[in-house]
Amino acid sequence: MSKVKLNLIAAACDNMGIGVNGTLPWRLKNEMAYFSKMTSGVTDSSKKNAVIMGRQTYDCIPDKYRPLSGRVNIVLTRSVEELKKRVPREVVVVNGLDEAIQHIEGRQDIESTWVIGGSEVYKRSMVHPACDKIYLTEIQKSFECDTFFPSIDHGQFVLVTEDGVPQDLQQEGDTPYYYRIYKKCN
Ligand SMILES: NC(=O)c1ccc[n+]([C@@H]2O[C@H](COP(=O)([O-])OP(=O)(O)OC[C@H]3O[C@@H](n4cnc5c(N)ncnc54)[C@H](OP(=O)(O)O)[C@@H]3O)[C@@H](O)[C@H]2O)c1
Repeated sequence: MSKVKLNLIAAACDNMGIGVNGTLPWRLKNEMAYFSKMTSGVTDSSKKNAVIMGRQTYDCIPDKYRPLSGRVNIVLTRSVEELKKRVPREVVVVNGLDEAIQHIEGRQDIESTWVIGGSEVYKRSMVHPACDKIYLTEIQKSFECDTFFPSIDHGQFVLVTEDGVPQDLQQEGDTPYYYRIYKKCN
């Protein structure tokens, strides 16, 4: 059994939408700061976390923020050689989730692993034996979306709480949301 545990992190609105036209449907500064804090935070300062993402999610990160700083960026694509030509050398390019996990297993400097989207990558990660938790920001509003978070099997994933993750309703401008955590129980 792999020592790697996958933590999924996403923000989804009422209809489970996560994206539109290759970008985020909303602008939530504090929620973005939460994403950075969760995916960057380590207890052992000699280590870093890994973020695993699909090629389109990598492409939709603004130039000045990518690769995501302080984290090992791993990008999934079916055209590895092509993508390697146009991304910085430190970006790890692989052709699937298992390859990403193998890469992480082969290193000693990675503390935790975060799957940061999009749809297909979330879907594969949720059913993968290494899946542990889903950190889902549940936005209490509808936005027009063309990309969606896969449905969560509530027979398998149960709501849990964690120190440092607020349970009360958050509000940014006119957008309310909750930070929720679902743990996979096999
Ligand atoms: N709200 C959120 O939390 C959140 C998070 C992330 C993304 N998003 C949004 O979601 C949208 C992007 O997500 P998306 O679902 O369209 O795309 P995506 O999952 O980021 O990227 C899809 C691409 O990733 C590669 N890929 C995916 N699964 C693979 C696998 N198993 N093996 C090999 N390659 C694989 C393929 O790349 P190739 O085509 O190169 O082969 C595929 O075309 C954007 O709108 C973004 O803003 C939102």
